Amino acid sequence: IPPPSLYYPSFPTGQQVPLQSKNESWSFPSTFWYGVAGASYQIEGAVKAEGRGPSIWDVLSHRVPDYVITNETGDVADNNYYQYKEDIARIAALGIKTYSFSLSWSRILPFGKGPVNEQALLHYDDLIDTCLSYGVTPMVTLYHWDLPLFLQNTYGGWLSEDIVADYTEYARIVFTRWSSKVHYWFTVNEPIVFCGFYPLPENYFKATSVPKKQQPYSCGHNVLLAHSAAYRLGKSINDSLSISFKNNGGYKIQRTDSAADAEAVQRAWDFNEGWFANPTFINGDYPSNLKTYVETFLTPFTQDQKAQINGSCDIFAHDAYTSDFIMAPDSGIAACVSNSSNALYPGCYNTTKLYANNYWAMGPASDPGSPWLYKATDWVPAFLHYMQDTWKPKGGVAITEFGMSEPYEELRTDLASILIDPLRSAYYRDYLSAILIALSEGVNVVGTLAWSIYDNMEWSQGYSVKFGIQFVNLTTQERFFKASAFEYVNMFNVYQDK
Ligand code: NOJ
Repeated sequence: IPPPSLYYPSFPTGQQVPLQSKNESWSFPSTFWYGVAGASYQIEGAVKAEGRGPSIWDVLSHRVPDYVITNETGDVADNNYYQYKEDIARIAALGIKTYSFSLSWSRILPFGKGPVNEQALLHYDDLIDTCLSYGVTPMVTLYHWDLPLFLQNTYGGWLSEDIVADYTEYARIVFTRWSSKVHYWFTVNEPIVFCGFYPLPENYFKATSVPKKQQPYSCGHNVLLAHSAAYRLGKSINDSLSISFKNNGGYKIQRTDSAADAEAVQRAWDFNEGWFANPTFINGDYPSNLKTYVETFLTPFTQDQKAQINGSCDIFAHDAYTSDFIMAPDSGIAACVSNSSNALYPGCYNTTKLYANNYWAMGPASDPGSPWLYKATDWVPAFLHYMQDTWKPKGGVAITEFGMSEPYEELRTDLASILIDPLRSAYYRDYLSAILIALSEGVNVVGTLAWSIYDNMEWSQGYSVKFGIQFVNLTTQERFFKASAFEYVNMFNVYQDK
């Protein structure tokens, strides 16, 4: 392991924009909400408690060798199922007034459909009521990747249009129960990512007849139908609800000013954000680059379906962690889709990752050509403008996840050094500074959610990759605030209009 100095070069004291020079126009409006986020499988644990049915992640973590590094599982995770009162009290004590969590579909409907598990409803009743009693606004995601296993094995989960009716019924149950208490709803989390899970590993789930390359796009098709059906249903129950899905992706920076790179950037937007955002925000249909390159995988929407999908989001909810350089593919556009073994990233562009903090990009693993001071203040305002100008969300843009894992954080052993997280702290300051800039330039940014409330089960990367603003001792289940927790709220304590 290289010494930390190599990885944390010239720690950026004094480079935060609002601290550097005074600007009267920088402020978060008083209506701006800021909170923290988590998700059921990543934090709850208690996988066998109170009637919960299994999800695909119980199989992926328990049965598929090395699907999760070191074969860790979400069986206990952060024990949030039992410690949620403490967890809400802790964020309230920090001054955080928004908590975003997801419901476990297979707790509420252990088979994904059919009999309802009343105990799960009572659990989430109390979780929501606890939030409200602390003055914390609950924001609820219906689906954060833990698909009820039964639905996968009955009809292939998201690969079948049958899921639309089952998801909509699940949505009806939760909207009916909580729409008087919960205003902000997210239907699905990051469909680009979970549709990208397909194809699932063979032999652990019932075989599907949908061809491999087709699978991400079948999933996407059914997600758009399910999301929009739930949106229309939720609005019919209570028209004032804010309902959206959570999209995701980094800001795409054109690597050179060549026309080929410009076209690659447009393909990158279309194959990622646009896949779900164009249908819901623009015209009920897929972006033109998808039609050009993967038309054979796209099932056309009927006119009625287009009408249902178009306009089915109230805010542009985006999980935006980082930025990427985009270049034309080395082998030329002929490689786009046709030569690719993976239909999801079909060789239509190349990407160089800039890591979340963008200081990491200065380390030895970085692209030697990168302008290494690509900080959040350099790309976040441009991204926010781009989202507002391209998709024109009626209720504004929200950053529904942002955050970072510090490299090698898992190797720190003593509590004192675990709790000092300078890169994450700088990331939050820079990112929120960047949002202040965008607000002053007229972008309607309405809120932010830090990922995450605490370190948790980072999917295939298990517990060693840590995104929390709190550390959790997984042996004792004690929680501790990291420095970044205070940095995050202090930006609002200083810069929010009272
Ligand atoms: C996106 C996902 O929604 C969340 O589950 C994940 O833990 C974070 N980003 C960090 O990778």
